[in-house]
Amino acid sequence: MRQAGLAHHGRASVLVNNAGIDVVRDMAGTSLADWDRLFRVNSTGMFLGMKEFADDLHEEAVAIGQLSSVVNMSSICGLIGVAFQVAYCATKGSVRLMSKAAALEYAALGKKIRVNSIHPGTVDTAFAAQCLKELGEVGFAPSPEEARAAIARAHPIGHMADPYEIADAIVFLASDASRFLTGSELTPDGGYTAQ
Ligand SMILES: NC(=O)c1ccc[n+]([C@@H]2O[C@H](COP(=O)([O-])OP(=O)(O)OC[C@H]3O[C@@H](n4cnc5c(N)ncnc54)[C@H](O)[C@@H]3O)[C@@H](O)[C@H]2O)c1
Repeated sequence: MRQAGLAHHGRASVLVNNAGIDVVRDMAGTSLADWDRLFRVNSTGMFLGMKEFADDLHEEAVAIGQLSSVVNMSSICGLIGVAFQVAYCATKGSVRLMSKAAALEYAALGKKIRVNSIHPGTVDTAFAAQCLKELGEVGFAPSPEEARAAIARAHPIGHMADPYEIADAIVFLASDASRFLTGSELTPDGGYTAQ
């Protein structure tokens, strides 16, 4: 992964750990295999990404004279509990504290790397469409359409996020405009967690 990334980009001053999967099911129906799969992708993958790129990020920061940035994708499910998403919430909660611990460790070691987590509300992607379908299957709403309307209403801003609304927040965390932020959480969630 590291070599492919560097072959493509040449250098690394930003690492966005974005890969993630979900399973919307009650706890009884969530298997140990589901649990392990979610942790491997959502949490272990992020740990490995930071380990792999730390030296590159530090060296590039020294070369360009500004801190490198790691942006770790969490979710509102990393801040609050959500029914039927025990495994997902557990992985996304781990992202939040892994990010804070990494931020403090890099600072303590003098590594020129900031680390922040980002916690979007529901984003209108294929991922969300699958979650809405599964929410229907566990009885959250009679149909995916009604689940979709209920989820949109749950965001005080009145709609799910467009992916570009989250991309803009990631660009902010990745850029030097956020240079005094490390170990923090950004919540582009349409007000969901303010309630
Ligand atoms: N869509 C939402 O409502 C929402 C809300 C909050 C957070 N998130 C998070 O945002 C991130 C992106 O989600 P999205 O909505 O764009 O969904 P998506 O399904 O479009 O994107 C997920 C990405 O993860 C990659 N991926 C999955 N398993 C992988 C693996 N084993 N190895 C490498 N890559 C893998 C996929 O290829 C895909 O590019 C995820 O971490 C998700 O948990 C999504």
